[in-house]
Amino acid sequence: MYKLDQSVTWQKLEKLAVSTGADRIADYFAADPMRFERMSLRLEGLFLDYSKNRISDAVFAALLQLAEHSPLHQRRAQMFSGDIINVTEDRPVLHTALRNRGGQPVIVNGEDVMPGIEAGLEKLRLFSEQVRNGKWLGYTGKPIRNIVNIGIGGSDLGPNMVCRALLNYQHPELGFHFISNVDGQHIKKVLKRLDPETTLFIVSTKTFSTQETLLNANSAKRWFLEKSGASETDVGHHFVAVSTNKAAAMAFGIRPDCIFEFWAWVGGRYSLWSSIGLPIALSIGYDRFIELLEGAHAMDQHFQSAPLQRNMPVILALIGIWYINFLGAETQAIIPYDQAMHQFPSFLQQLDMESNGKSVDMEGNPVSYATGPIVWGETGSNGQHAFFQLLHQGTRFVPIDFIATLRPDEETADHHFALLTNMLAQANAFMNGDAGEGKQEFASSPGNRPSNVLLLDELSPHSLGALIALYEHKVFVQGAIWNINSFDQWGVELGKRLASEISSNIERESSEYDVSTQGLMALVKQHMDEVKPKTGRDTKRDGTVS
Ligand code: F6P
Repeated sequence: MYKLDQSVTWQKLEKLAVSTGADRIADYFAADPMRFERMSLRLEGLFLDYSKNRISDAVFAALLQLAEHSPLHQRRAQMFSGDIINVTEDRPVLHTALRNRGGQPVIVNGEDVMPGIEAGLEKLRLFSEQVRNGKWLGYTGKPIRNIVNIGIGGSDLGPNMVCRALLNYQHPELGFHFISNVDGQHIKKVLKRLDPETTLFIVSTKTFSTQETLLNANSAKRWFLEKSGASETDVGHHFVAVSTNKAAAMAFGIRPDCIFEFWAWVGGRYSLWSSIGLPIALSIGYDRFIELLEGAHAMDQHFQSAPLQRNMPVILALIGIWYINFLGAETQAIIPYDQAMHQFPSFLQQLDMESNGKSVDMEGNPVSYATGPIVWGETGSNGQHAFFQLLHQGTRFVPIDFIATLRPDEETADHHFALLTNMLAQANAFMNGDAGEGKQEFASSPGNRPSNVLLLDELSPHSLGALIALYEHKVFVQGAIWNINSFDQWGVELGKRLASEISSNIERESSEYDVSTQGLMALVKQHMDEVKPKTGRDTKRDGTVS
């Protein structure tokens, strides 16, 4: 049986952590002028420099051995061929099929899923072209000007992040808005600026059962009907759905031809490649959306075929494992030096933490080693003036991924130069510090703090697709080595179930909850009851209109 932390390689790595863990990265460079050359990789418009890590050749070799002896090879083959690797939900995991641009069949339960995927893409093309060309008309005959995506988690973060990152490619006459939070202030703020005659809502929910999304969708529908004076039948011109649950979408009032379906084997956080990417196709156009898929497909091919020691996702994953399991890192900072990428850390939070935030292995046994890190981050150079102080001189050990785009915007090339030189300076300062130069203790930075630098030639659909797939596979590799299921999320499901139970039980002062929860429920009930007479509506709704 696979017991990761009882393997000879694991023990070797533990010893290496003791003997080399305090090595200076700068000394590795001094000893090897070829280190940058050897520890960098170019692929699909991405350049990865991983030379500024606290990793000796012996450590890297042992990490590769760890990967070789793990279920990685087997699980990677299983994922791409549609085997059931999400065992707790009894599903294959096939986001890679959604961007399979090579034309090979992908067989699930004896059936090729590719014709269905192609048909879904064709529907996306036709609809997005109609809206973008001004041919999809609202109920008064006006073209659509604003698009509102209503969804949360994977039904928000992926399309939201990509639309913002590719803002330069956005249709000039369309505005894009994303409503996710159940907090009514979110929807209120967005709707305030919109005209119902020219607004299109996308109700984006894999299950069509998520409380936040249903509440927001119902509130949007009510706003549309009240503000426009339109009738229920007009809803069809202004609401479309993206879901695997066609029946529930139809019950909401969406026309069957306006439901963009996908499949249970697409995980929420891996779904931007499916019809969940509809806002992306609307924003940048169908052809550019395909370029995004092609970038991801190129990374998929690299991940499947490159030897482990030159395999970008594997390298990033192994570096992370070294820091998490052997040098005690608790977190991973993601710092894009690119304002358009400001949502990327949030996107990666869900991707990584919902996937690898697990403490039970594939056989259902508690793991005896650390798994997924706390992922966090913010754009540079803003972060430099907020939390970088702790990264330079604090007591925590925080590995960093810097991400930047090489090609400057011509109008702001001077800003871009400053942006990139700031990033280079930070990566250099983290590695070298400035201790030992006659400085007083409080003023000296110890350095020896590791980072990866990922440079995109340009922030294009293709390179962004490749970058996202890179991190998806990094997370996959770590999950395979840790022998956990990266594709379920039972902890989140618990929260969803309890929220629904509490909202149903709040009326009857139930004693089944702990005293703290009961006390807090009473306070909430009291305040909600106070506003009920004013709104005339039952405020304790669970996503349904009452
Ligand atoms: O956050 C948990 C989760 O299940 C995610 O995996 C998913 O992306 C999100 O909720 C939204 O779910 P749905 O798309 O079904 O509304």
